[in-house]
Amino acid sequence: MSIFNFDCLKQFQGVSICSATQFNREQAEAILELASIMRKMDAVQNPSPKQDAASSVLVNDDKFQQPRLNSILNGKILVPLFFENSTRTFSSFCAAMQKLGGGVSYLPIEASSISKGETLEDTIRTVDCYADAICLRHPQQEALAKACSVAEHPIMNCGNGIGEHPSQSLLDIFTMQQELGRLDGLTIALLGDLKHGRTVHSLAKLLTLFKIEKLFLISPESLPMPADVVEFLKSKNINFEFASSPTNEILKQLDVLYVTRIQKERFTNIADYEAIRGSYIINKEMLDRACGSEPSKKLIVMHPLPRVDEISTDLDDDPRAAYFRQMKCGLHLRMALFVICFGKINAVIGK
Ligand code: ASP
Ligand code: CP
Repeated sequence: MSIFNFDCLKQFQGVSICSATQFNREQAEAILELASIMRKMDAVQNPSPKQDAASSVLVNDDKFQQPRLNSILNGKILVPLFFENSTRTFSSFCAAMQKLGGGVSYLPIEASSISKGETLEDTIRTVDCYADAICLRHPQQEALAKACSVAEHPIMNCGNGIGEHPSQSLLDIFTMQQELGRLDGLTIALLGDLKHGRTVHSLAKLLTLFKIEKLFLISPESLPMPADVVEFLKSKNINFEFASSPTNEILKQLDVLYVTRIQKERFTNIADYEAIRGSYIINKEMLDRACGSEPSKKLIVMHPLPRVDEISTDLDDDPRAAYFRQMKCGLHLRMALFVICFGKINAVIGK
């Protein structure tokens, strides 16, 4: 099924995924290859009722019929613990586990004994007795380390405050690869709340594995990329530049415009948020104006979502809008992470 060498991923069996810095280039590429196998197997084994041309070719591809996806993680249980709301990360991790034949034992935080004063550590110790893997999202950055210090089973960091969101960054580069066919040589802009946005912290770190042509860090002056991430970029000799707005000059150079939401929930003073909201609104006319009717290169617009107002809905039907396709990449990338975590790569590739 694949001539790829996945041995470099063996070290992640049973290991928590906390940060984008856990991976080297070879490992990141192997994860993307596995995610792309997951995508093909899913298309063949769970054909969509509305077939497009690409997936109907795949549906008839016998080599993706076996092994059955829903037999791979039979008997495994995921416990998702989300102390902050989520739509995509929660549902795609749960769907990933269930498509692979495992189960999900969902504990809504508001219905848990946390309301009686139980600590995070004791809550983790408890669900660790029933889970084979735990997904954790928490508003406090330090919560992740506390949870990892008491859990025996692997924890997927689904966002630790303003820290990181590593599976998001993996699905982000998976999207870039699927959309543009490469990761080397790209010119990328990260736009929006770079101070509080955990997705851009992980993504900036992960991008250092590739030969990025140029990285623009575009934010309001009060919401810059944190110093530790900037230092990390410097230590990896990344060619980056700060900017305060997405000028035509910048937009026309881009392969990827990665837009983020101003993270309202991180502001202690709501007036500060109100002063800055709506700073950037990307719309179709703006891209058309910057890139012209015959653009010299293909631009894609990405967003981890949810979107509030930073991308106008008039862009949604434009082929450059990759953000909804990006969400779908999350499912297959997270299926790949579970396959790796449970040591099932050989079962998938038929070795
Ligand atoms: N969903 C992403 C996160 O949880 C991005 C966002 O909420 O703006 O970090
Ligand atoms: N991208 C992302 O993390 O989305 P959710 O907050 O909806 O999970």
